[in-house]
Amino acid sequence: MSQVYMIVFLTLFLSLFYTTIGENNLHNNQEQTQAYIVSIRNDLKPLYFSNVEEWYKSILSRTNSNPNDALLHVYKTVFHGFSARLRSDQANSLRSQVEVIHIFRDVIYQLHTTRTPHFLDLNTYNSPLGLLKDSDLGSNVVVGVLDTGIWPENPSFNDAGMDPVPSNFKGVCDGGENFPPSLCNKKIVGVRYFAGMMSKTENKSLSARDDFGHGTHTASTIAGRTLNQNVSFFGYAKGEATGMAPKARLAIYKVCWSFGCSSSDVLAGIDKAVEDGVDVISLSLGGPLERFTDDTIALGAFGAFQKGVFVSASAGNSGPIPGTLSNVAPWITAVGASTIDRTFRADVILDNEEVLSGSSLYTGGPLPKNKTFPLVHFTSNYSMEYCYPGSLGGVDVKGKIVICSSPALSSRVGRGVEVQLAGGVGVIVALNDPTVDVNDTVKSDPYLIPGVTIPFFETRRLLHYIKNKQVKQATIVFRGTRYGEKPAPMVASFSSRGPNTLSKYVLKPDVIAPGVDILAGWPKNLSPSGLDIDHRRSDYNIMSGTSMSCPHVSGLAALLKSAHMDWTPTMIRSALMTTAYTGYHHEMNKTKTTRQNGHQLSYWVSGAGHVNPEKANDPGLVFDLSEDDYVQFLCASNYNSTEIQIIVKKPVKCDDETKVKEWDLNYPALIVPTNSKGKEIEIVRTVKNVESGSSTYTAKVAHPKGLSVSVSPLELSFKAINETRKFSVKVSAFKGFKHDEDAMSSITWTDGNNRNVTIPLIVVV
Ligand SMILES: *[C@@H]1O[C@H](CO)[C@@H](O)[C@H](O)[C@H]1NC(C)=O
Ligand SMILES: *[C@@H]1O[C@H](CO)[C@@H](O)[C@H](O)[C@H]1NC(C)=O
Ligand SMILES: *[C@@H]1O[C@H](CO)[C@@H](O)[C@H](O)[C@H]1NC(C)=O
Ligand SMILES: *[C@@H]1O[C@H](CO)[C@@H](O)[C@H](O)[C@H]1NC(C)=O
Ligand SMILES: *[C@@H]1O[C@H](CO)[C@@H](O)[C@H](O)[C@H]1NC(C)=O
Ligand SMILES: *[C@@H]1O[C@H](CO)[C@@H](O)[C@H](O)[C@H]1NC(C)=O
Ligand SMILES: *[C@@H]1O[C@H](CO)[C@@H](O)[C@H](O)[C@H]1NC(C)=O
Ligand SMILES: *[C@@H]1O[C@H](CO)[C@@H](O)[C@H](O)[C@H]1NC(C)=O
Ligand SMILES: *[C@@H]1O[C@H](CO)[C@@H](O)[C@H](O)[C@H]1NC(C)=O
Repeated sequence: MSQVYMIVFLTLFLSLFYTTIGENNLHNNQEQTQAYIVSIRNDLKPLYFSNVEEWYKSILSRTNSNPNDALLHVYKTVFHGFSARLRSDQANSLRSQVEVIHIFRDVIYQLHTTRTPHFLDLNTYNSPLGLLKDSDLGSNVVVGVLDTGIWPENPSFNDAGMDPVPSNFKGVCDGGENFPPSLCNKKIVGVRYFAGMMSKTENKSLSARDDFGHGTHTASTIAGRTLNQNVSFFGYAKGEATGMAPKARLAIYKVCWSFGCSSSDVLAGIDKAVEDGVDVISLSLGGPLERFTDDTIALGAFGAFQKGVFVSASAGNSGPIPGTLSNVAPWITAVGASTIDRTFRADVILDNEEVLSGSSLYTGGPLPKNKTFPLVHFTSNYSMEYCYPGSLGGVDVKGKIVICSSPALSSRVGRGVEVQLAGGVGVIVALNDPTVDVNDTVKSDPYLIPGVTIPFFETRRLLHYIKNKQVKQATIVFRGTRYGEKPAPMVASFSSRGPNTLSKYVLKPDVIAPGVDILAGWPKNLSPSGLDIDHRRSDYNIMSGTSMSCPHVSGLAALLKSAHMDWTPTMIRSALMTTAYTGYHHEMNKTKTTRQNGHQLSYWVSGAGHVNPEKANDPGLVFDLSEDDYVQFLCASNYNSTEIQIIVKKPVKCDDETKVKEWDLNYPALIVPTNSKGKEIEIVRTVKNVESGSSTYTAKVAHPKGLSVSVSPLELSFKAINETRKFSVKVSAFKGFKHDEDAMSSITWTDGNNRNVTIPLIVVV
């Protein structure tokens, strides 16, 4: 991929930059070293090595390196092998060792709630019903969070009244500096940090303490305690705050530092989390797509799947451009981001009484009433137009409101600071990126001076006004928190879109979940904007990104696991997907939810739809997958047996006879190829009954526009739990089917008893 593929999973403030790490000089004037990840055939270990670590060191020593200096991590559970810091000649000599199957370079991954439980219909946290009751609020489940660490003193992590830690959890409280073991409790049950690449690149304390805020935010979204106080961000989003699974346990694996998250550290974190015995892993981070053999999240997640651990990951923040997903492996649940029905509205009122609506989390006092202020926009000079730091130094904007242009994803609070330093009274950050959804504000910003972000649509009106008026005056009015705003949910512009460019026939994202303007816990010693000049402090902060939607699904998976301890990770994902909705909240309306520059809804944007937890608790039927199903899928996807061995850690043979195709993977979504000759394709799926008692499901095909779709049999009957049935779907395109568009349809199995099992059907050219 030649284009610079910058993935900023977190759209707010983390100023993590792309760095090539490991390029440090270990010895003066010697060639630079890099981190490599090495896959080893453990079946070749000679008996005289008592453990793999000693053996790995002996392999390393053959390359003329000092194994004790070079070795970064030993992987034992989800992956077989190690990572090490090596020169390229050492890496080459390692490549030729018989025990080494594969060696690839470390890369840097980037990091990518009060209202949401209500929005998800998970209502009564105090007297739980439904999924919350069935799961005992997630009490017997441990969620591993791989992120920037945690701020353990946040009220979200108190353990009052919690039961003892599940006895099968084997983690430790190894938080490093400034994180004594006494800070772990029955909520934060384990803490570790992985700093293989960190120690050489920055001068930060070696600690699991969260220096960035991201990890505290995601962990409290997953499993923050229910706080019956007036929790808010300076009055915004005030109310009861709770994580999705308030009694689930958190095991913290700090793998991200100021430079980002090194892939060898991430693999070490997953390896340890699975060894410690977590049930769910949450990863709000990712990088550019690589083949699964070179992608440590995909490798680690497969090992987690083998041990029955559910892995959810953020889909990425590179939307609305199609084909921009991260974390697309079929054994990962990839989560896109959508809005909820809460907004933080602020209006720009022009002196001709036109109102431009935007949003803001400005925390200071209002502008004087009955007064408007001169508007200025410096368009002659690019850095001044965008209010970049230092750009307004030479101009006098005293008493004025400054318009600053902005692309969709940049940090905006700093523009207000620049205006403030130049003496301005307010800032209008005007989104001017026509590639994003024109009406999408996307996220709200915690301005330090009266400030508002307006969507592209309103920017056009504002610029029209500026151009046509002699005297330009306006004011900004802050409307506070508003609930019940429609339409919601909508997929956020920034949420990465399919199709899945790596595995074309696997639907990604899998689902969407709340990821815009989410309130959650925050370290008490950090500013909410990430700016040094910002002296505000709060236990809560409001953030946006697929980094925020992923932990919602991790928490829901914890509840589902806790309510159904015998469900596999694949069954949990299936339950979330087949019960997801694609219309507005509570309305099945396929045409609108995922507006995308005027295009119709597309499963490429929403995945199977928005999660619907109470329905997922009672899905009726599920699509399960075994390790062998994935091996067959990998064979069909042109992975050879050596490559598959790297992933599954044992010898496999691709059977040419079975002729399994990529689209035959038993996924709860059908993506089917078609050709212009109208050739029919048949796909078989297997469903498993997860309800007791007998039931009969009938199939219904929705919107088969331009397609011939036949399902056989049309009725599936079950007498007992765990019974499986197969059905086949034959699809062909009618003559005249427009091959420049992918066709979207769906199949619903309904039991006449309120259970609908819906799978998307997409025909691709
Ligand atoms: C690292 O930080 C310590 C104290 O925080 C300081 O004494 C030391 O000089 C720093 N080293 C470098 C290389 O910046
Ligand atoms: C909570 O907020 C409400 C409304 O703003 C206020 O009336 C009440 O006193 C607050 N309660 C506490 C405990 O702060
Ligand atoms: C200010 O506005 C209010 C209505 O918004 C109006 O009643 C009042 O007369 C105005 N005051 C002045 C001084 O213009
Ligand atoms: C833009 O304006 C700033 C501040 O007045 C000045 O420093 C800079 O050189 C200008 N840049 C251009 C490209 O004119
Ligand atoms: C954007 O919003 C405006 C005002 O509500 C509406 O007239 C316009 O049709 C919308 N545009 C799109 C593409 O949805
Ligand atoms: C669904 O969307 C269509 C097209 O925008 C609209 O005509 C219809 O009223 C909507 N139905 C509901 C229930 O919102
Ligand atoms: C498998 O594929 C890899 C990567 O393309 C290649 O290096 C290797 O030689 C292949 N192995 C076999 C047995 O074909
Ligand atoms: C159904 O299968 C699960 C394993 O997937 C097993 O734990 C459970 O006991 C089975 N239930 C019955 C009633 O056989
Ligand atoms: C199930 O799906 C059918 C057909 O798609 C629909 O008519 C019905 O309202 C749905 N039922 C529920 C409970 O969602």
